[in-house]
Amino acid sequence: MHLSTFVNFIGLGLISTVCGSPIATESNSNKASSTFDESSRATISDEMTWGVAQTPNILNDTAVDANAVAKGYDLVNVSQTAHGLAGILKLNEATNIYGYDFDCLNLLVEYQADSRLHVHIEPANLTDVFVLPEDLIAKPRIESNNVTFDTSDLVFKYQEKNFGFSVIRSSTGEVLFSTIGNPLVYSNQFIQFNTTLPKDHVVTGLGESIHGSINEPGVVKTLFANDVGDPIDGNIYGVHPVYMDHRYDSNTAHSVYWRTSAIQEVVVEEEALTWRALSGVVDLYFFSGPEPKDVIKQYVHEIGLPALQPYWALGYHQCRWGYDTIEELEEVVSNFKKFDIPLETIWSDIDYMDGYKDFTTDPHRYPLDKFKKFIDDIHGTDQHYIPMFDAGIYVPNPNNASDIYEIFHNGNESDSFLKNPDGSLYIGSVWPGFTAFPDFLAPKSQEFWTKTIKDFYDKVQFDGLWCDMNEASSFCVGSCGSEGYLQNPAKPNFEYGDVSDTYPKGFEQSNASEYSSIQQKASSTSSAASSSTSISDSQNTIAPGKGNINYPPYAINHAQGDHDLATHAISPNATHYDGTIEYDVHNLYGYMEVNATYNALLEAIPNKRPFILSRATFAGSGKHAAHWGGDNTADWAWMYFSIPQALSMGMSGIPFFGVDVCGFNSNTDSELCSRWMQLGSFFPFYRNHNTLGAISQEPYVWSSVTDATKITMNIRYLLLPYYYSLLHESHESGLPVLRALSWEFPNQRNLSTVDTQFFVGDALLVTPVLEPSVETVKGVFPGSGITEIYYDWYTHEQVDFQAGKNETLEAPLGHIPLHIRGGNILPTQEPGYTIAQSRKNPFGLIVALDKNGGASGKLYLDDGESQEVESSLFVNFVALNNTIVSSPYGDYKISEPLSNITILGVNEKPDSVTFEGKDVTYTYENSTLFVTDLNKDSKDGAFDKQFTLKW
Ligand code: NOJ
Repeated sequence: MHLSTFVNFIGLGLISTVCGSPIATESNSNKASSTFDESSRATISDEMTWGVAQTPNILNDTAVDANAVAKGYDLVNVSQTAHGLAGILKLNEATNIYGYDFDCLNLLVEYQADSRLHVHIEPANLTDVFVLPEDLIAKPRIESNNVTFDTSDLVFKYQEKNFGFSVIRSSTGEVLFSTIGNPLVYSNQFIQFNTTLPKDHVVTGLGESIHGSINEPGVVKTLFANDVGDPIDGNIYGVHPVYMDHRYDSNTAHSVYWRTSAIQEVVVEEEALTWRALSGVVDLYFFSGPEPKDVIKQYVHEIGLPALQPYWALGYHQCRWGYDTIEELEEVVSNFKKFDIPLETIWSDIDYMDGYKDFTTDPHRYPLDKFKKFIDDIHGTDQHYIPMFDAGIYVPNPNNASDIYEIFHNGNESDSFLKNPDGSLYIGSVWPGFTAFPDFLAPKSQEFWTKTIKDFYDKVQFDGLWCDMNEASSFCVGSCGSEGYLQNPAKPNFEYGDVSDTYPKGFEQSNASEYSSIQQKASSTSSAASSSTSISDSQNTIAPGKGNINYPPYAINHAQGDHDLATHAISPNATHYDGTIEYDVHNLYGYMEVNATYNALLEAIPNKRPFILSRATFAGSGKHAAHWGGDNTADWAWMYFSIPQALSMGMSGIPFFGVDVCGFNSNTDSELCSRWMQLGSFFPFYRNHNTLGAISQEPYVWSSVTDATKITMNIRYLLLPYYYSLLHESHESGLPVLRALSWEFPNQRNLSTVDTQFFVGDALLVTPVLEPSVETVKGVFPGSGITEIYYDWYTHEQVDFQAGKNETLEAPLGHIPLHIRGGNILPTQEPGYTIAQSRKNPFGLIVALDKNGGASGKLYLDDGESQEVESSLFVNFVALNNTIVSSPYGDYKISEPLSNITILGVNEKPDSVTFEGKDVTYTYENSTLFVTDLNKDSKDGAFDKQFTLKW
């Protein structure tokens, strides 16, 4: 093997080219929900939804192994540049396995920052190549002129003959990435490289999927945004082409980000990882860490730091598909009040719309005058309202004079919709029938979108927007045909709103009487869906050009029955204004829609932080959006998967994440809902949502769930200043709010697979019950008794856990084990019914001392809603030697006092406690010191000036 080590010197800077209705009881009945007169609508034809069944390559034993066949490239004309090197890659021999091979590629290597290396490979002739525009997706750039090979912790080595490269960590000499030994394959529809991985590797990331945290050997990640109900291991809504590789031998971690919007597939094996893309260029970034948290921060900093969400968004959210009328929405809001369960935001699914047309209101079920009054009332009680919209814009039927929908005409006239390749309007189908789709690359689309959202805001004064079906989903397979809308309004050809008698695992035990009555009723009818589609291998397309974009020669394992790329999606051949085909930017649809919505909201509601919840996401979506986990199932497995999904979204720059608590698809039950309402209260985004036709699952439906919910909601609301400070930290540094145990304790290999527990910040460890019919749960407490102390949240007692041991914790229904890690100071505020009320209550501190009697913590506050934050308050807290000192700075004033400080781990009852030198009231019990009645000593506001507390 001929390896040339690249040594930096100043040289040529450029690449040269050498060739070319709820009831509070323990039981619940199925709730019928009719939201639209379905009978008056035509049905889209079945044929429109038939795809051409594909055989995914990874499931096809006869598929060609590109590594075995391709002949690779030789590197020539290498030259040094100011920050790296450049060279030309010449194809050794065309094999045209999955498309036609490019015979000449340009290579550029840049040392961009001490912790970041960039490797870029693209065809010398870019005619048939999609290059991701920098103004769409941030492109990491050289940080300073001083960055060179000498300063970087990452070293690029290469082999000229049969080109391959390695990335080495200079401080340890470890090979982090190496393609050497396997050919680079670069065709118009297939790019592949392969890196070696150490045995027993720990690779995380490559979201979004429903999978445990670790991508173990055998995992195949398909990266293609997909409207599908959260299948385990299938491709779902988001695309995050980045993985983190945690090396326990050297106690380091690094990550690799391929900045591409292409359709991708990543195969993880015992000692290798193969990455494939179906178009685009190789635009790779290596982040050197060396700790997992460093890696995450370095990556998120480059794709875009997460939005600072409005403070109110931390409150509890209630939603469902099937709140049929405005009266029903009102009833839900009043039920929360009646049962004294905090409700911050009430949501609307598509139910409020007139015929499911975006940004309209149903004149009968949601009459505008009542709707407006409802929202005024909501705002009058400091609560919030968020409605949904879908990506598809209804196309009115020109043969029906009364079918008027101005939004379509505005979009059409401003040329803001996607087209077919022949320039005609691209017609798909969503809930209202046949639809067009905004083309967010069209020059007037922002103007069109801003007007649409502003007009809607004039009617319905929402507080945020919910972007659904934005992968983008369309029920036809590909185009529905240009004439489809002549049948409008039409309805999907599949049934929805019938979840039958499906209940979570364990339901028969926890709800025995209900279960047996369902069993008695059960009929023996069963129906089997049949598919008449033919199976075909994709055709090999070797001609120059874009190739076969609807059926690319390499078929990904797309998680739709027929694996057709156009199933439940806009067709890959739909064409944007500038000629870009959907094939190349499908994974960006939701990202672009969110950006346009964000800009529109800034105009519609000036200087208020836009709150946007998006189903489809891409690298960088966190800048503008929160995300929920999509259509999960009301079953225990999906409750567990919510944790790895949250951790994966956090490391992908989307910390404001939560899932449909109690489960979306199928019916939940009181046991699952009770456990889930408690777990969900620790996620940044806390929303209960379920599907049409499923039983009601608001937390007041079962008294046991109400009780369980109140316990943890109280904890969440008490901890709001802590959560908001974590959101701010995330916004500034990229560090997620929820953290894996392996990020907090990166040197302990036995924690690498733990994803049934998680930290909130680095102070709280949550150990939820994730299975039915149990009263205990197992959990680990890293470093316990050695470096760490853990305190039980509820008793304040220091718990006697052994590091490395799987401890058994008592967890009867209604109790979620929660522990505070010593060494932390948590700011709190007395909970109120709403966020606004909570923010008017006195503050407190929970101080959990570490082994040395020390602790520290932070608080960040501002008005919680301004887009341009003018005044902020930062407070640092330090505890040491029986003294706590606060150090505030910043100009945001709060008038609420500090009422109490609770100090955990105080070994002896003190003789006295002083606050600013004056004796204050306290009690002492179980090694906990409760200092109370401080209000009068902080009348000017809890953190108006520095204070010292001594004991
Ligand atoms: C799909 C979304 O994921 C779900 O949350 C919503 O309820 C339905 N669409 C209906 O709008």
